[in-house]
Amino acid sequence: MSHNINKIETIFTLNGIERKVEVNPDETLLFFLREDGLMSVKSGCGGQGDCGMCTILMNNKPVQSCLIKMSAINGKSIETLESMGTADNLHPLQAAFIETGAIQCGFCTPAQILSAKSLIQKNSNPSESDIRKALSGVLCRCTGYVRIVDAVTRASAVMRGEDIPPYTPPEIKFGKNIGEIEIPEAYYRKDGNKSPLLPLVLTPNGMTQLSEVGKSVKKVDGVKLAIGKPVFTDDVQPSGMLYGALLTSPYAHAIIKDIDVSKAKILPGVHAVITHKDLPRVKYATGGQSFPQPLPHDQASLDIKVRHVGDRVAIVAAETQEIAEKALQLITVDYEILPHVLDCELAMSGNAPVIHDEEDTEGIYDASRNIVHHLEAEVGEPDKAFKEADNVYEGEYRTPKQQHAQMEPHVCITYFDEDNRLVVRTSTQVPFHVRRIISPLIGLPIKQIRVIKPRIGGGFGGKQEILLEDLCSHLTIATGRPVKMEYTRSQEFTSGRSRHRQIIRYKLGVKNEQITAAELRLIGDTGAYGTHALTVNMVGGFKGLTLYNAPNSRFICDVVYTNTPPAGAYRGYGAMQEQFAVEVLIEEIAEQLELDVVKFKKKNWLKLGELMHLARKLGEGREGYDQSMETTAIDECVTVGLKATDYYNKRKAYSNEPGDIRHGIGMSIMIHGSGIAGLDMGAATIKLNDDGSFNLLIGATDLGTGSDTILAQMAAEKLGVKVEDIIVYSSDTDFTPFDKGAYASSTTYISGGAVVKAADKVKEMILIHAAKMLRVKNYQDLLLENKLVKAPDGKSVSLKDVALSSLHQLDQHQIMATESNMSYVSPPPTGAQFAEVTFNIKTGEMQIDRLLMIVDCGRVINPLTAAGQAEGGMAQALGFTMFEDTYFDESGHITNDQFGTYRLYKADDVPPMDVIFVQTNEPTGPYGAKSIAEISVDGVAPALVNAVHNASGIWFRDLPITQEKIIKELQTTKLQ
Ligand code: FES
Repeated sequence: MSHNINKIETIFTLNGIERKVEVNPDETLLFFLREDGLMSVKSGCGGQGDCGMCTILMNNKPVQSCLIKMSAINGKSIETLESMGTADNLHPLQAAFIETGAIQCGFCTPAQILSAKSLIQKNSNPSESDIRKALSGVLCRCTGYVRIVDAVTRASAVMRGEDIPPYTPPEIKFGKNIGEIEIPEAYYRKDGNKSPLLPLVLTPNGMTQLSEVGKSVKKVDGVKLAIGKPVFTDDVQPSGMLYGALLTSPYAHAIIKDIDVSKAKILPGVHAVITHKDLPRVKYATGGQSFPQPLPHDQASLDIKVRHVGDRVAIVAAETQEIAEKALQLITVDYEILPHVLDCELAMSGNAPVIHDEEDTEGIYDASRNIVHHLEAEVGEPDKAFKEADNVYEGEYRTPKQQHAQMEPHVCITYFDEDNRLVVRTSTQVPFHVRRIISPLIGLPIKQIRVIKPRIGGGFGGKQEILLEDLCSHLTIATGRPVKMEYTRSQEFTSGRSRHRQIIRYKLGVKNEQITAAELRLIGDTGAYGTHALTVNMVGGFKGLTLYNAPNSRFICDVVYTNTPPAGAYRGYGAMQEQFAVEVLIEEIAEQLELDVVKFKKKNWLKLGELMHLARKLGEGREGYDQSMETTAIDECVTVGLKATDYYNKRKAYSNEPGDIRHGIGMSIMIHGSGIAGLDMGAATIKLNDDGSFNLLIGATDLGTGSDTILAQMAAEKLGVKVEDIIVYSSDTDFTPFDKGAYASSTTYISGGAVVKAADKVKEMILIHAAKMLRVKNYQDLLLENKLVKAPDGKSVSLKDVALSSLHQLDQHQIMATESNMSYVSPPPTGAQFAEVTFNIKTGEMQIDRLLMIVDCGRVINPLTAAGQAEGGMAQALGFTMFEDTYFDESGHITNDQFGTYRLYKADDVPPMDVIFVQTNEPTGPYGAKSIAEISVDGVAPALVNAVHNASGIWFRDLPITQEKIIKELQTTKLQ
């Protein structure tokens, strides 16, 4: 090997082994470690040192390996997660992370565990605040840090040799009056203790106990994530892989008059440069939705016009990332810069530049005024009801353009397999939609494409979009080589998706304390393209007008293009914004009428069995189906919350507090849905193996939520085995049956229904075969439990016996079934959210003292994974309420496009977040389950705004409640 004069020799210890290597001194340690195959070390912010995903231990201290140059590691001891436990011999921290449910997507887990290890080495008995401080350098977008903190506490106790109790959520039964239950003392949080609490499960008397369902079993993917196995998209790279890079627009609105790529093309190491000139113009929408995708199809893979800073311009594939980046710089683009518009009200004024003036986009309502959709829906006689109302109340509310901020950026690897079929290995929530939607874009039939979804490092709706898959495929088709494309963290902001910014105007008519009329006028800012524009805003209208379900309701909505990065699907999907607004207005009305707000809400909220008036008119993107609420626990959730927070006493006391330091308590109620009625479909295949175990093949997409685990629990329950006997595989368009993917809070309800149906079928096949073996006439007389099929006379055969017999001996056949599931109803989970704050009316400083969510998600399949959804959802909603927004300069550039400037909650600044489940038994749900993923974000903003009002008298109607807004309000409001 020739000696490279630019390289240096460095000697260090890596995971206990001395290494002597020649390296480029400017190379980062992160790059070296991943090149060395240590894939537990992740990258989430492109080397900015903002996220902590690349944290490793250097001389036992946590450091971010993206900030360490190889020239600085001589003589150092480096440790990565690979040096800790193995699957058979887990380190106590790894075991505790699995046991407590601290791992959701698992992308941050290696860094969290290493940070905790370093802490425990220094301090064997760390306090909760020590732990939070030690973990504060590593962001987590999934968990709200609740279980992570608990995991470290438990692991340190184990390492000190202490006995620790099992980590089992407590369960209390309740009868007719839930208010009579004795809530354990800890859940009152009277002592100021801020430590995490286990979720509390409240179960109605008479609800049957099951053996696998309802248990906090460990996540089926927990071990591999805890030991840092290479399970994410970028962890497995095909040989000969090229690096793709994306040139994006520096202008908010411009026509590409010409592009000169000649210099980029001849740069050594460059294999392909593609612009709009090289591709046929195929119009599509990037949203991964069911067929047919809602209009407009207003994008092309590469277009002749750019409509926001960060819009696609050209792509390159090269031998290294550096060469690819260099090639981008060599592309010369001749732009004709057009005037742009960033504000949605201005955009629809008729005096703004037209963003979509192309002739080949169908389905734009009024392109000349940038209105992509205009929606109107009405029930009853709203005008008459407003006229007859005792009073009419109005309010305007604004919500921010929140970023998904999942830790793993969008990443995709494409290659041709040995049969010359295109394999797309991608971090997606919607593998089957990806396959269908990219097919016409890349000119390959669906049968030539295989989409593989490995583990996903978070999504929250952002990966329900096809953002890189078509581009990466174009590069593989052009070069014949494997290609990887990954967004930089900045591109996540500028070229990814976000929550829709909305302007929400409510009008409510009240007669005899009854809400008789409601009008919701909504303006949704979809950004430069209309992906999810129709459906997000429609869902917002439906949920926002159904929570109180006024018989006379009207929805008028304009969804508007602006020259900003497109909005898309985001957990909460419109419902979150509208429920914020209506829950604050209801509170304002109650105050004006001097009513007990809880009683006022109770008089008006959606009741059991009540027809949801707008369900038919506001389906998702089309006409829906009549629906009523068949299970609800809003009343119970509110009752428990009032008790656990001592709401009334505090509310009264806080209303008259003297001094600068004030306290406040607020509450809200919420509903969501479970899948899209009449549209979502999921399928599952279950196959019996020789040893009595089962393969569960699902197209459903676990993006960290734990859906693989809860689907395995359902299968195990039905098939009389433990979860360990269910081998889950999700998802691969070649091997798993169709599932529309992970969105709309549908996986538990829709895909779970498919699993239960398939398991039922397999169970029947097992019993029929066992009946032959046992010479029992009627197979229905047999019982399947504990891996045995038992006959009434006491004889039995094991599942293994049945498998071996059916595969090799008697009436040979494969015991296996595939079943599909869809639903014409979308049963709403229901709940109540409480928030408590301390507010300094002099300085504007605010501390959130507690968030408590009491939620009915039907039967809770796995209390710990469900609690993880609720906790993580509350933390995301807290960001939405307090400080997360996307800011632009006048030219349309985002000014906070990094984690350094776009603030996320850290382990040491999240408040205590508690979860109480009130179980119901949804008749249409698998084992009585509804959904949990999205309702968890719906109630935090209004509960907090109401709490701040209780503390200060100020209404914050424009989110987020930034420090600047607080100060401004304090300057203009006369507080008493
Ligand atoms: Fe922490 Fe997903 S589990 S980022």
